[in-house]
Amino acid sequence: MPPTLRTPICDLLGIEVPLMQAGMGNVAYGRLAAAVANAGGLGSIGGIDITPEQVDEEIRLFRSLSDGPLCVDLGFPANAPKGLSDVQAPDLPGPLRQLKRELDERGVEVVPTTDQAISLADNKRKLEISLDHGVEVIACALGTPTWVVEACHAKGAKVMSIVGLAKHARSAIRNGTDVVIVQGTEGGGHTGDVGLITLLAEVLEFSTVPVVAAGGLVKGSQIAACLTAGAQGAWVGTRFLATRESGSEDVFKEAVLEAGYDSTLRSLLFDGLHVRMLRNRFTEVWEGHEDELSPYPVQRVLTMPFKYAAMRANLKSHMSLPSGAGAGMITDLPGAAEVLDRLVEETVEALRRVEKTVEFR
Ligand SMILES: Cc1cc2nc3c(=O)[nH]c(=O)nc-3n(C[C@H](O)[C@H](O)[C@H](O)COP(=O)(O)O)c2cc1C
Repeated sequence: MPPTLRTPICDLLGIEVPLMQAGMGNVAYGRLAAAVANAGGLGSIGGIDITPEQVDEEIRLFRSLSDGPLCVDLGFPANAPKGLSDVQAPDLPGPLRQLKRELDERGVEVVPTTDQAISLADNKRKLEISLDHGVEVIACALGTPTWVVEACHAKGAKVMSIVGLAKHARSAIRNGTDVVIVQGTEGGGHTGDVGLITLLAEVLEFSTVPVVAAGGLVKGSQIAACLTAGAQGAWVGTRFLATRESGSEDVFKEAVLEAGYDSTLRSLLFDGLHVRMLRNRFTEVWEGHEDELSPYPVQRVLTMPFKYAAMRANLKSHMSLPSGAGAGMITDLPGAAEVLDRLVEETVEALRRVEKTVEFR
């Protein structure tokens, strides 16, 4: 009999094991989400970086591959501009002029890029599309407005809120979220500066809704620690990035496999908010030039064309590579179902080990 793992959140979300593949822009599409869902976990589509039409297509793809529940990850930051044309970017700062020279030398053209992530109008449309498709769960990054919760609940969808600070957990709970995902500083992408175990303990003190752990989780032993602390599940990103079904470029997967324990940094350089990413030339050019950073979302509008130019050219040295601090533990590129099964097995093994090694009454 393969090991099984259940917590009350499994019934809440209609999943077999309390493990969730995180929403990741440019990585988590319908194919990855379906592989995870078919293995009993919660699969997510990272909806922030794609157009409303692509959200529609990826949900359809997921439904054609899986009968499981689906999560779509969307962003509703309070300071989002209404439309894409509302943000005026200043002239390129020194670090980006340097990157442009380096890309020019390699024959890589930096062209103006439309950024889907920042427009409130587009994100509203993506929410409508997801709910019309009957998507079971909406994950909210960067804030959980009441109107989003009300729209989800009206269509029977659950809401999960990703937070990096206890005060953000409090406001998400106040606004009616169903689940709080507590992300420690170890997490890839947007992340705070409080360590996971500390933040988990703080939020568990007051949370009236189930709490899920995130940030740097790559091994079942870490997930067992979070469950022991009181979390009901785990939201896992970077480990699922390095799978066969993930939609990221092969060179991105390669960079994660090559990463060591000290390969990530947390910086404002991508979009003016703190993002954990792999160190490379894209991050190095900003060293000593922090005074040239712009606030969100202007910084994002400035760097986006560079990110996509390097992606198109498969140039991992110059790409933006969001990654959790657990990347150093990732050494292979299996299928997503195998990752999920392994995590269950390791978590159960670690929980059994506690029973054997810790005496308690
Ligand atoms: C490549 C990458 C892209 C991400 N993109 C998003 C995103 O678009 N929206 C979001 O809410 N979180 C995003 N995240 C954060 C994840 O949802 C998740 O919270 C994080 O990956 C968990 O930490 P871990 O990567 O250490 O497991 C991203 C993370 C990574 C690694």
